[in-house]
Amino acid sequence: MKKTNQKTLEEIIRVDHAGERGAIKIYEGQLLALKTIKQDNNLKDKIEEMKEQEKEHLEYFEKEIQKRKIKPTYLLPLWDLMGVSLGFGTALLGKRATLLCTASVEEVIGEHYKNQLKKLGNDEKDLKKKIEKFKEDEVSHKNIAYEFGATNKGLYSIMDKIIQTGSRIAITISEKI
Ligand SMILES: [Fe+2]
Ligand SMILES: [Fe+2]
Repeated sequence: MKKTNQKTLEEIIRVDHAGERGAIKIYEGQLLALKTIKQDNNLKDKIEEMKEQEKEHLEYFEKEIQKRKIKPTYLLPLWDLMGVSLGFGTALLGKRATLLCTASVEEVIGEHYKNQLKKLGNDEKDLKKKIEKFKEDEVSHKNIAYEFGATNKGLYSIMDKIIQTGSRIAITISEKI
């Protein structure tokens, strides 16, 4: 069957590497707030659990980026800063905002992984399998967030849109540079 386009493949790995790293940075920002000014042990434990899975995701893409000699995005330092700020900021706003942040980002990432799966050919079976698995993890993060009290009603709907749009922009940029 169809073979994966080489340029597309590079873009996929570059952006996923950046995204998984971004996810960890967001959680780090949230954990920083949850351990200090917004102490909440329950929420902290949940976030830590999800962060562990993001680490597994990132490790995989770190290896792929090295193995295939793909350039990571130039914007890693910017995404690091923005990720931590987004995490810290949402955690300061409270539990619902903290969880909505996860829900909004994962909404976009779930879709993003689904689109990537369509672009990968049969010559990239392992990568496909991993992305399939990670997609399931991200969808479950989104579900956990809503179960634990995320909401996108009322004013939160604005926040949801801002985070989703921001994430989509970050994805488009990180594929290219
Ligand atoms: Fe992830
Ligand atoms: Fe996730």
